[in-house]
Amino acid sequence: MAAIPFNRLSAVGNEMAYLEAAITTCRLSGDGDFSSRCSDLMAHALGAPRVFLTPSCSAALELAALLLRLEPGDEVIVPSFAFVTTASAFALFGARPVFVDVCAKTLNLDMDAVGRSVTGKTRAVVALHYGGVACDMDRLAELAKRHDFEIIEDNAHGLFGSYRGQLLGTFGSVATQSFHETKNFGCGEGGAIIVNREDWIQRTEILREKGTDRSRFFRGQVDKYTWVDLGSSYLPSELQAAFLLGQLEQRHRVQQRRAQIWDRYFAELSGWASLKGVQLPHTPEGCEATAHLFFLVLPSLDERQRFISHLGERDILTVFHYQALHLSDVGRRFGGRSGDCPVAERAGDCLVRLPLFYSLSDDEVGRVIEAVQSFDAVS
Ligand SMILES: Cc1ncc(COP(=O)(O)O)c(C=O)c1O
Repeated sequence: MAAIPFNRLSAVGNEMAYLEAAITTCRLSGDGDFSSRCSDLMAHALGAPRVFLTPSCSAALELAALLLRLEPGDEVIVPSFAFVTTASAFALFGARPVFVDVCAKTLNLDMDAVGRSVTGKTRAVVALHYGGVACDMDRLAELAKRHDFEIIEDNAHGLFGSYRGQLLGTFGSVATQSFHETKNFGCGEGGAIIVNREDWIQRTEILREKGTDRSRFFRGQVDKYTWVDLGSSYLPSELQAAFLLGQLEQRHRVQQRRAQIWDRYFAELSGWASLKGVQLPHTPEGCEATAHLFFLVLPSLDERQRFISHLGERDILTVFHYQALHLSDVGRRFGGRSGDCPVAERAGDCLVRLPLFYSLSDDEVGRVIEAVQSFDAVS
């Protein structure tokens, strides 16, 4: 029996034809036809004012930090249970990351903790929709209004998910996407920034083009281009965009298959999980999730490691996820201490993710379920 990987990127539509077409043009630098088609597709599908492709979600988060015009002493609130660049992108440009805990059920920002952490220096809160399940955006919007900070959505997991009927990625001043090959739609490495604040669009264009007004020059709006702001190079090549377009065009089919797998895991593992004291994902009312990942929270770190080995012996690769950021070497430099964010710490120790990708067959899903059910968790 073949091994079951955790993830496998596959072509689902016109990827090969688009790659060939891109190569045939011999014009592979950024912002060509395929990049525009990806950006337009997303802007149209989301009803967002502008979308720009970036080389990664991390790069898009850096752009978000630059857009904030951070000054020394500024604070950005981030969940401790997050990817490194969810926090480091802001620290890189001078902000102090303030780590807050997440809710036990969803592993999304705990809004009570956010409320307690806001100070006069808070410039932004980063809402990471873990697994594509929305944060409590009503409460966050209310806090943002009261304390006058920007909402940045780290929507790496949540493209085409929604909260109370509104699509994720359209709540923040900006939102960032990842097209890393482990995401629902991938092109190896890739990302995007969704700009919802109309008054930030022009500056995003400039920051992304090395701090120059080159895009205006190409549109014939200025007769030469020059250095006008402090930016960098945040454009992916047309090769990435060509592959990505093939993926995005098939978004409904991809999401549907992922949801089928996710629903089957949930239906067939719920009984086992409640008997064994294992936590499964929770989707609050009003959230339309993206089936980005299916996780289990085991009773302890030892049990989690035993679980990974148990499935490994059956040729199934399962992987843990984020380690609490406030306890990392850099997090501690910003004041993080053990016990500050207990839910994030426990998720770092006890969470594991099952294989979930478009080309996972029904038989393979069955094998994973059987292997999980044969694990005798000690609750
Ligand atoms: C929530 C979140 N944000 C950002 C990133 C970084 O994405 P990228 O690899 O596209 O930079 C990841 C990566 O997995 C992530 O999970």
